Amino acid sequence: MKLKPLVIANWKMHKTHEEAKAFIMALKNHLHPSVEVGITPSFTALESGVVAASGSSLLMGAQNVHEAPSGAFTGEISARQLSALGVSYVLLGHSERRHIFKETSKTIALKVKSAVSEGLLPVLCIGETLEERETGKTEEVLAKQLKESLEDVTLSRLVVAYEPVWAIGTGKVATPDLAEKAHHFIYTELAKHFGTEFADRVPLLYGGSVKQEHMKELLQEPHIHGVLVGGASLDVTSFGHIIRESVQ
Ligand code: PGA
Repeated sequence: MKLKPLVIANWKMHKTHEEAKAFIMALKNHLHPSVEVGITPSFTALESGVVAASGSSLLMGAQNVHEAPSGAFTGEISARQLSALGVSYVLLGHSERRHIFKETSKTIALKVKSAVSEGLLPVLCIGETLEERETGKTEEVLAKQLKESLEDVTLSRLVVAYEPVWAIGTGKVATPDLAEKAHHFIYTELAKHFGTEFADRVPLLYGGSVKQEHMKELLQEPHIHGVLVGGASLDVTSFGHIIRESVQ
């Protein structure tokens, strides 16, 4: 089933709040009613991002959230604090969180729960390493990450981003065929755990070295509904081209 294309920028630890504001003001000229667009800046730029995006369809998202509702967790940010700012969604389980910060699927499931309880849309990222792909473990890894990251969670909305670790920031984008196979597998796993009606409504994004020239072919695949873009989302012209190429 084809859903409205969804294009999300993941800015990681880039841009000050002033830079984010200038980018968002300029990006408003590149938005298109048939493409949903989200910007995921650092926490420091969320408030000015929400203000700059007001009056447009642009969604603002956070790159992480703590699982507890509040408490003695120095340096952490809660779902309630995000939702009070006007943030719409949160990235969870990004491979940099899993690999550099050692977040486990179990913790990610708690974060998903916390996000959902405050009305934030969870954008759950999953993906295999190169070694896992080369040893034929891709589906096993995706099934495990998906199941464990959503364990005991009651959901009405979800986005899943398939981001093969070997494709993130490497310039090695997955072929549309390879990405479609993974997306189809994710779809069947979601249908198995949550039912077809739910799975049909979950946008599945591909992420990993996406640039404008990949968009048409990726979005032609039946189970690829959009993209999560790192490097190519930092420049407003290049991100604008990605949005334009997503118009169906
Ligand atoms: P990339 O990053 O587009 O720079 O590969 C994608 C991501 O990490 O979400």
